[in-house]
Amino acid sequence: MQIYRLALIGFGNVGQGLAQILRDKGDYLAEHFDVRFEIIAISDLQKGSIYAPDGLNPAMLLTTIESDGGLHNVPAVASGWDAYTTIEKSNADVLVELSYTDLQTGEPALSHIRKALEKGMDVVTTNKGPVALYYPQLVALARERGAKIGVEGTVMSGTPALDLGKDLLAGAGIQRIQGILNGTTNFILMKMEAGASYEAALAEAQALGYAEADPTGDVEGYDAAGKIVILSSLLMSTPITMDDVQRTGITGLTRQEVAEASASGHRWKLIGSLERTLSGVIASVKPTLLPLDNPLASVYGATNAITYTTDLLGEVTLVGPGAGRQETGYALICDLLSMLE
Ligand code: HSE
Repeated sequence: MQIYRLALIGFGNVGQGLAQILRDKGDYLAEHFDVRFEIIAISDLQKGSIYAPDGLNPAMLLTTIESDGGLHNVPAVASGWDAYTTIEKSNADVLVELSYTDLQTGEPALSHIRKALEKGMDVVTTNKGPVALYYPQLVALARERGAKIGVEGTVMSGTPALDLGKDLLAGAGIQRIQGILNGTTNFILMKMEAGASYEAALAEAQALGYAEADPTGDVEGYDAAGKIVILSSLLMSTPITMDDVQRTGITGLTRQEVAEASASGHRWKLIGSLERTLSGVIASVKPTLLPLDNPLASVYGATNAITYTTDLLGEVTLVGPGAGRQETGYALICDLLSMLE
């Protein structure tokens, strides 16, 4: 039985989603993959930091968070370590980087990831910032130090959009990618089509936990643009920046336009798109009027979807969750399993 010792930076929704999966599916993973993933350290700015080299029971972590709101009362060998000390001293096999996303600088996650890779420590992350901004450099650093980096959860949470494109469809020749890559905006458009106001629909998306802390990132298309940058770099071997993505959000769409589309057998969707052309890859995020027979037109609520247009298979569409605690936690499991030797 292999043991992979994990150090978590950040213990919010995604970290707790991972703990939930290890609590509920730990035995299944051990039975089927001959591996145990042990959380040995957590460093969270608000909830506290703990280190226990023999492993922290995921069920106990979750009940403690529920009852105390933090980790301060968890028995540990050391506590109070910041992210750098945790990476330095925990001797973990894998850094699980789950701090907050900053699409402008990638920090603080970027520095955490670099520090871990420099030590030769493997990294898994769902943080879009460092991956959108520096993925090629991070992969190069990982190679140089004999480490691995897994980023499946940065696009469509645990729905394996990146692995599908990067591995299974790589030989089919991806020419175009079009996707609903932001759940909040897709949810808002669905609600507006049913007659809700933009404001009421956004408030509901926030209450349901789909939106980013600052929902501007969702409604103005920055979140989807970050995912387009990641897809371009990983699946089209074309590193681009956020500035290369022509971006329009959904804030200019009126309820009347949404209703008119519906009356004419169409539907507005916020579509992220990448297209190979003779002059390079064209990247955009914008509200797009789709006919109802387009597979992306019938994707509702916070669900995401992606269509790969390939040379050999034509169109292949993958539909699945794009956010959520356990859904994003599963992306980490996916990455961890693919690291097994
Ligand atoms: N705010 C994002 C969304 C979360 O609505 O899709 C996942 O990146």
